[in-house]
Amino acid sequence: MRVTLSSLLLVATASAAKAHGNHENHPRAHQNYERTATVDVSTLKGKWLYGYQGWFRKPASGVNNHWSPNGGTPGPGNVEVDFLPDVSQYPTNCLFPSTLTAPNGQPVQLYDNTCEGVVDLHFKWMQQYGIDGVIVQRFLSHLSDASFITILNQVEAAAVKYGRGFIVEYDASGGNSSAGSVANEILADYNSVVKTYTSSSAYIHQNGKPAVMVFGVGFPTVAISVSDGANIATQLKNAGAYVGLGVPSTFGSDVRGNTGFASAYKAANLISPWTVGSYSEGGYMAGYHTTTQIPDSQTLKSLGIDHAPLVWPGTSAYHLNGVTNPSAFDYFPRYNGSFYSMQADAVTSLAIKPLFVFNAMFDEMNEGTGNLPSLKTSQLPTNDKFVGYDNTFANTSFYLALGGQKATAFAKAVN
Ligand SMILES: *[C@@H]1O[C@H](CO)[C@@H](O)[C@H](O)[C@H]1NC(C)=O
Ligand SMILES: *[C@@H]1O[C@H](CO)[C@@H](O)[C@H](O)[C@H]1NC(C)=O
Ligand SMILES: *[C@@H]1O[C@H](CO)[C@@H](O)[C@H](O)[C@H]1NC(C)=O
Repeated sequence: MRVTLSSLLLVATASAAKAHGNHENHPRAHQNYERTATVDVSTLKGKWLYGYQGWFRKPASGVNNHWSPNGGTPGPGNVEVDFLPDVSQYPTNCLFPSTLTAPNGQPVQLYDNTCEGVVDLHFKWMQQYGIDGVIVQRFLSHLSDASFITILNQVEAAAVKYGRGFIVEYDASGGNSSAGSVANEILADYNSVVKTYTSSSAYIHQNGKPAVMVFGVGFPTVAISVSDGANIATQLKNAGAYVGLGVPSTFGSDVRGNTGFASAYKAANLISPWTVGSYSEGGYMAGYHTTTQIPDSQTLKSLGIDHAPLVWPGTSAYHLNGVTNPSAFDYFPRYNGSFYSMQADAVTSLAIKPLFVFNAMFDEMNEGTGNLPSLKTSQLPTNDKFVGYDNTFANTSFYLALGGQKATAFAKAVN
């Protein structure tokens, strides 16, 4: 899931002058035992779900490993992430050394997501912190990559084991209607591959139907046509699914004006706007939340369409953008979680309650929206530049612990 850097930088620059220093949103140490019980997968109502990429691999010939842009060993000059995972709890056989140097002089270790035990650990954390589960990504441009089936199998098994839920979301951002019907391509894959997973005891349903999402309809950077976008939703609905579309943050004005992709949006059961980079901490409450999010929630309700707003902790894409643009580094800072808390509290306070909340993302370290345990500033390598979690955090699970608290508050407000 990508938006262009130039549009992100415009917002970042506009808000750069705002002073920050809010330390009041640090959560108290608190374990919510109730939310470790098996989640009710018969409904999306009140859920707090993290997008799950599952795309990090051990570098090998022909493998898009997502750690290094040019293949080969990740290290200075060849790395694609701006945050680094805290791998201290991963199975050691799932790790491999990079040429990044930790403060103790040792190579920084990275993980292979397909290695048995990694997905399991991620779900163990979700249970520990009371997070309901994931929206696992299925990349349209990698449908034949068997490693993503490995991930899907592991997600299913871990969700069952730890009492979490999951749904599949097609990332159709590489889709091109001129090259053939994207709707047909998704439907064929749904019927031949994904449908099997919807009978899992951990697959989340809504209105008695398995929930499926498709990201990428309505974006100027994605070559999916309006009619193909509408067909994506209609065909999946006809195949028995409850269908959510991941769309641009500006979808509401199209729907109200009956312009652009309105007919595609209206074909969906649920809309989830992708808002990474659409607002900054300073501009959120008086800006996006008031002028867009609230009216959009009303528009969707009037149409009988469900709403899954997005929350994200901040974003950084310096390495992803080829290190040419220094301002891409930490360009939407997290401010120790206060930016995230502000969004989480705002979506929970909406008068028209969202059906569920989409938390971007569990493990997206390339765009810097990851929430998984990641290195603190004092633990970062000495031979390249990364964003660290604050040294004062009690541990590297800060964002999962905070997410679990926000998930609990949302579930209470909705149910
Ligand atoms: C994060 O919290 C620490 C400790 O309270 C504080 O020193 C630091 O300035 C904070 N950073 C930001 C960006 O708020
Ligand atoms: C990590 O710190 C958070 C507070 O940020 C706390 O809620 C959580 O329980 C801690 N986790 C562990 C394993 O100590
Ligand atoms: C979409 O496909 C058409 C026909 O194959 C091609 O000409 C066009 O460049 C493609 N557009 C994108 C954005 O890839």
